[in-house]
Amino acid sequence: MTGLVSGVSLFRNAQHSTWILGLFTLEEKERTIKTAVIESYSSLAKETELAGCCDSSKTDKLLRYGYSAEELASLPESVVAMSDGCGNPTGLGMIREGDVVLDLGSGGGIDVLLASKKVGKTGRVIGLDMTPEMVQRATANAKRMGAANVEFKLGEIEQIPLDDESVNVIMSNCVICLSPDKQKVFQEMSRVLRKGGALAIADEVAVRPFSEEEKGDPGKWCSCITGAVTESRYTEMLEDAGFTEVYLKQLRPSMSGPSQGVFSAFVSAVKPLK
Ligand SMILES: C[S@@+](CC[C@H](N)C(=O)[O-])C[C@H]1O[C@@H](n2cnc3c(N)ncnc32)[C@H](O)[C@@H]1O
Repeated sequence: MTGLVSGVSLFRNAQHSTWILGLFTLEEKERTIKTAVIESYSSLAKETELAGCCDSSKTDKLLRYGYSAEELASLPESVVAMSDGCGNPTGLGMIREGDVVLDLGSGGGIDVLLASKKVGKTGRVIGLDMTPEMVQRATANAKRMGAANVEFKLGEIEQIPLDDESVNVIMSNCVICLSPDKQKVFQEMSRVLRKGGALAIADEVAVRPFSEEEKGDPGKWCSCITGAVTESRYTEMLEDAGFTEVYLKQLRPSMSGPSQGVFSAFVSAVKPLK
């Protein structure tokens, strides 16, 4: 827990003293956020492995998020146990047979494994996550399912380890709200996506902009709350990265509760052909 403790104290110091905040470069601040996020999701991976699966409330939640009972029944229990998204990006109808699909922040691998069935033997699905324990668990989950067309990579969504214009669809499920540099994420998405390719995202969106003080609470940031941006900011950043046909649809109040100032949404967009 040392990493988390040092990350938290940096946040807390920053929250209570603008002088101390002034000592940190933007890079250091972003690294502090990422350390807290990695610690948080590393703990989740370890806890769910110890707890096993699955009480009915978890399955009910996933059904509400748009996964079908058949889809959930087709997955190993460990995949369902580790899922922690806010929608079902594989259900947006973007993924076709033969596609190369990238999942940003793939966690235990639920969406990668469901997409692997849609792309079939001629397609490929890549999961990217910066928490080593998540990548290890997801790789084990894929092996358990005998999914040969998937690969999980360790890395950051702000620096995607893939070639330019190498994927057809990018999905992501409750992850971009955790990034301290969303514009960089959208630029990277635009770089690796082929022309005409699409985004299928489930994410948390802020009702109003969060203050710097609110953003300084690591617990709320790691719970997908105070890292969220508003619908207009989300759209603006996607358009600045070159995406068109941006469509954002509110689904329900936040997965963390109705009064947190965020809502769950689907976001889609395309990279223009020219
Ligand atoms: C809320 S969980 C969602 C996991 C998965 N998408 C799902 O639906 O179950 C967030 C995941 O995103 C990963 N993550 C967060 N920020 C990231 C970043 N900047 N780069 C790569 N992975 C990140 C975390 O390690 C964690 O596994």
